[in-house]
Amino acid sequence: MTDKLRIGIIGAGSRGTHSFGRMLAKRNDAGVAALMDVNSTRMRKATEDLGLNDCPCYTSLSEMFDRETLDGVVITTPDYCHEACAIEAMSRKINVLIDKPLAITSRGCHNVIAAARKNNVQAMVGFNLRCLPLMIKVKEIVAGGEIGRVMMIENVEFYDGGRTYMARWNRNLKWSGGLWVHKGTHDFDLLNWFNADGTPVRVSAFAGLNALKPEALPFAVEADKAVGPACSVCAYADICPDCAKSSQGPGLFDEEAVQEDGYRRDLCMYLSDKDTHDNGITIVEYDNNVRASHSECFVANFSDRQYTMVGDRGVLTFSTSEPETITLRPRWKRGYTTEIKVPPPPPGGHGGADPGVLGRFLQTIRTGEPQLASLRDGIRAVAVGEAAEISWREHRMVDISSLVDLKDATIEDAG
Ligand SMILES: NC(=O)c1ccc[n+]([C@@H]2O[C@H](COP(=O)([O-])OP(=O)(O)OC[C@H]3O[C@@H](n4cnc5c(N)ncnc54)[C@H](O)[C@@H]3O)[C@@H](O)[C@H]2O)c1
Repeated sequence: MTDKLRIGIIGAGSRGTHSFGRMLAKRNDAGVAALMDVNSTRMRKATEDLGLNDCPCYTSLSEMFDRETLDGVVITTPDYCHEACAIEAMSRKINVLIDKPLAITSRGCHNVIAAARKNNVQAMVGFNLRCLPLMIKVKEIVAGGEIGRVMMIENVEFYDGGRTYMARWNRNLKWSGGLWVHKGTHDFDLLNWFNADGTPVRVSAFAGLNALKPEALPFAVEADKAVGPACSVCAYADICPDCAKSSQGPGLFDEEAVQEDGYRRDLCMYLSDKDTHDNGITIVEYDNNVRASHSECFVANFSDRQYTMVGDRGVLTFSTSEPETITLRPRWKRGYTTEIKVPPPPPGGHGGADPGVLGRFLQTIRTGEPQLASLRDGIRAVAVGEAAEISWREHRMVDISSLVDLKDATIEDAG
């Protein structure tokens, strides 16, 4: 291991370049040693963006591993590639940070866990919400017993950016595992993390597409003027309130990069072929008599995660839009509320959470001890998300044991 850790980035897209790449480029203790992406134009643009013009770039993972000595890799490909990339890195004894979700199915997560055990490498899942001071404080309050034994947790999420889920690869189950896996794993992980003594056992979900579909276009369509198929070529770009022309460039995703592989990020969110939801509700039951729900809605003019957590001695309410305050209502003080102050979020992406994830991964490499979120955490969150996908599509409650045995010893000790 070198003093300055050599990190490879697999998937030099938005997250790989603009988040991890830029954070690494600013650090003294680690740096980007190589990039790997299937799109060579995008990689060239990534090196320009990062000011790393001499950085080696590869379109083949095995070639990168053959030629470079790396202390770790960050996997920021589309979700369906996580499993194969992680297993190949681990087979080369390289530590991995896998951005969420760990894989798109529980089976895929299981395969990654098996590879980590076989090769004795460290792996971490990029559950950045765990780094938010707000969530850390909630966890501390729960652990300190201030609300007694947790009974019920509710999270309602609004996301003013629905187009990102309808305009590119994550709009389809085969590439993202569906939005309960792609997006929901963040939230299911937090529910699992807050309810640390419990294991999720049963899931019921309801979801659907209400607003982001062809019939709901927010303007009148003229008979001889077709819509879309992408914002950058749409005849209604000037009047559509959801026009996302700018997500196509300049930079990593400009037309030159599109020429290479046809990957667009500005498909019309109303017309795109998709098989996912724009709103839904999932209920999870745990084996320790705790119930939790997570609702997500991608049609709103604001973003927030609004939580209520009920214990047998009190209730906590908090939300990501007010990250410096948690409200506590002690059970036997009728009408009384107290505000618990939380340190302000640090600077950086996702409310300061992203630098925390990278820092913990570098610590994982240096100490050999898993930090922040393990493969066990990764599979538990995906299992809930996968069960939710099956539940809403097949209109039935899903037993997680039908997908994976979360009490399996190999999962229990997966670090
Ligand atoms: N933790 C978070 O808050 C958070 C936020 C956004 C995205 N993500 C996750 O980060 C990952 C990347 O998302 P994004 O928005 O940056 O996607 P993106 O589409 O912007 O970038 C993905 C990149 O991977 C490349 N790629 C595709 N197949 C590949 C392969 N087989 N090998 C190597 N590269 C390949 C693409 O060419 C593209 O450059 C996803 O897993 C996503 O779920 C996490």
